[in-house]
Amino acid sequence: MEKINVVILSDDLDLRIEVKNLLQREQFAISGYSDYGAEAKTKIVNLFPEVVLCAVRGKVQESVFTFVQDLLTTVRSSMVVLVTDNISVDLVNKAAGYGIRKVMPFSGVTPQDFSEELKTVLALEQQRSLDSNEGKKVRCKVLGFFSGKGGTGKTTIAVNTAISLAREGKRVMLLDLDLQCGDVAISLDADSKYSIVDLVQDRGGITIENINNFSVDHSSGLRVLCAPKSAELAEYVQSSDVEKIIDIMRPYYEYVIVDMSSAFNDITITACESCEEIFLVYNTDILSLRNAKMSYDILEKLHQKDKLQFIINKYEKGIIKPADYTKMFGLEIYYVIPYDGNTAISSVNKGQPAVLSAPRSTLGSSVRHLTEKVIAEHTGIKVLMEPEKKKKKTRGEPKKSKDNPKKK
Ligand SMILES: Nc1ncnc2c1ncn2[C@@H]1O[C@H](COP(=O)(O)OP(=O)(O)OP(=O)(O)O)[C@@H](O)[C@H]1O
Ligand SMILES: [Mg+2]
Repeated sequence: MEKINVVILSDDLDLRIEVKNLLQREQFAISGYSDYGAEAKTKIVNLFPEVVLCAVRGKVQESVFTFVQDLLTTVRSSMVVLVTDNISVDLVNKAAGYGIRKVMPFSGVTPQDFSEELKTVLALEQQRSLDSNEGKKVRCKVLGFFSGKGGTGKTTIAVNTAISLAREGKRVMLLDLDLQCGDVAISLDADSKYSIVDLVQDRGGITIENINNFSVDHSSGLRVLCAPKSAELAEYVQSSDVEKIIDIMRPYYEYVIVDMSSAFNDITITACESCEEIFLVYNTDILSLRNAKMSYDILEKLHQKDKLQFIINKYEKGIIKPADYTKMFGLEIYYVIPYDGNTAISSVNKGQPAVLSAPRSTLGSSVRHLTEKVIAEHTGIKVLMEPEKKKKKTRGEPKKSKDNPKKK
């Protein structure tokens, strides 16, 4: 029988153990412990618990309720239970108002009774979710960003899209498969000790635990599996590893975003085969159009044609137009992103992608709208993603430059 995955939250270390001892080992697996601190939410999201037990000794502080409320906006499929020694009718009513499914005592109860009751509550909750279609796992979508031409903006668009999805509360993994020159980590200023090479070489094999161990969190909520820091390590990754990594990630993420290199090697081909959709990122110059034709033909021969969509990036008025792509490939352009050199350069230099550092810029807002389209097509739900509200300037504060200053 599969065990029920539980995370125990408490600031009180002794209480964590007390609550753990109430869970019968044959039925429950503790996937982690946490306090109610700033890092807790991200930690819990990545543990994918079915049950979150919030244990509190004495008075339940307001901060616990607001934590749960915030947590449930992200981890919608987990059930939260409050475990306390201070149960009252008022508390139960208040807890229900914050989305807590049950309030249970931790003293004067046997592990058998506690475990049985928790299982019953969970079964009821799962039935309720099934009935209302709520909490149903959204099928994972693996989105690849590719072009056979270097420098068209694959990484820029992949990274910004991944962040936008994560900020919308989606569970997102960004996988850097440009194994020789991957620069996702630099774009995000992510200080990762590990890379995909550590994952494939680990004795424990490719498991979801190891994928979590060797990937890093980004402040946006995104998880990132980086490319190795030196190019010569790339050869340790086999195409079968790539297929396995993506397959294992699927049940745990709503989106896996794959940034690829411009080389048509085994890794790229396997990644394309694992994708549901491949965004071909090209520009409006003749070399781009020529390369697009070559790449399209190869992918067609590899039976990937139905997955292909064009994103025209760095668009500026000129001889080649997005319509030329439509004419050549008989395919509507999925999205056109204008040239925005100022934002592109400054965001890379800051290690803060445009959707974060300059959300109102041409680049930032274009990727946000692209993401809205991706979500609408995947879930059938139209979302309107607003950029962060600008902070109010306090008097005397120096004037800040605009997100996307016009060229002089
Ligand atoms: N819309 C845009 N407007 C202006 N510059 C852009 C835009 N998108 C990306 N760039 C810039 O283009 C350059 C190449 O971008 P990026 O590294 O994302 O391309 P790539 O296709 O991933 O390259 P590679 O093939 O080397 O992996 C970067 O300097 C980036 O800042
Ligand atoms: Mg790149």
